[in-house]
Amino acid sequence: MAARPQFPWRLQTTKYKTNWTAALEVAVTAARAAGRVMRQELARPKRVDLATQHDIKLALDVQCQQLIQHRLLQAYPASRFFGEEGSVGDAEADWRWVVDPIDGTVNFTYGIPHACVSIALQERRVPRRKPRGRREAVDKYETVVGVVHDPFADELWTAIRGARARLNGRPARVSQRARLEEAMVSLGFGKRDAVLQHLLPAFRELTPRVRKLRIMGSAALALTYVATGRFDAYAEVGLGLWDFAAGALIVECAGGEVRTRELPDGLHEVVATNGRLSRPLRRFLPDPLSA
Ligand code: IPD
Repeated sequence: MAARPQFPWRLQTTKYKTNWTAALEVAVTAARAAGRVMRQELARPKRVDLATQHDIKLALDVQCQQLIQHRLLQAYPASRFFGEEGSVGDAEADWRWVVDPIDGTVNFTYGIPHACVSIALQERRVPRRKPRGRREAVDKYETVVGVVHDPFADELWTAIRGARARLNGRPARVSQRARLEEAMVSLGFGKRDAVLQHLLPAFRELTPRVRKLRIMGSAALALTYVATGRFDAYAEVGLGLWDFAAGALIVECAGGEVRTRELPDGLHEVVATNGRLSRPLRRFLPDPLSA
């Protein structure tokens, strides 16, 4: 078996906080660089590489991803880069960067300044035994660093597993609201019929029971809003890993709860709450919260 590539020595200490600080700094620099491009380009005409009825791929998605990829792999050449616009690097690497260069692309394309850069660093966790019925052990990763940057509001959320999440350097905390009638809940809708059928009943049931429902168009920002007490909960079905990997860690490090489930098509269902509302919402939100 080929030897596993090693991370630079800086990351190989034992405490989480010291382990990951250098990686966080590199991710922040990369996120800010992509954010500057997003800010410059928001109001300009955009080159669309691919447009379907419900989705858009911009040349800028690729450009921002390349910018981020270059910085991350230059600092950590032995890691894998797993981005919305494609992946590079050794699939056997023990660390991988999970990146959405522009989360909220449709907002961004229409000049709506609600979009962000999302960067997570994940570490491979070797499962103790193979899952029943499988001949191969399944790769498992845990997010250890998360960065989400909203260049339009100049907001930067950061988290290192085991430490408090931060917004622009200050500690971030989920809300304390425990009553549904006071809750601000964000939902995200994919475009497929099955997804709509899954979440629409929740929409119908929750609307009269919560303060407000919001659909904002950026999964990563919805998660950071839960982490900062702006939203009390967020649920979406049909997300890519890059949409939520960083935001989910930020919610957890801000005292919230996140449940995820991988669907057969490789997309994910994500439910994040401030913790206090997990129980009251269980009746209305679909799995995995109710599992
Ligand atoms: C999308 C956004 C959106 C969510 C979609 C995602 P993208 O990410 O996060 O809020 O509803 O499911 O695909 O495509 O803009 O990076």
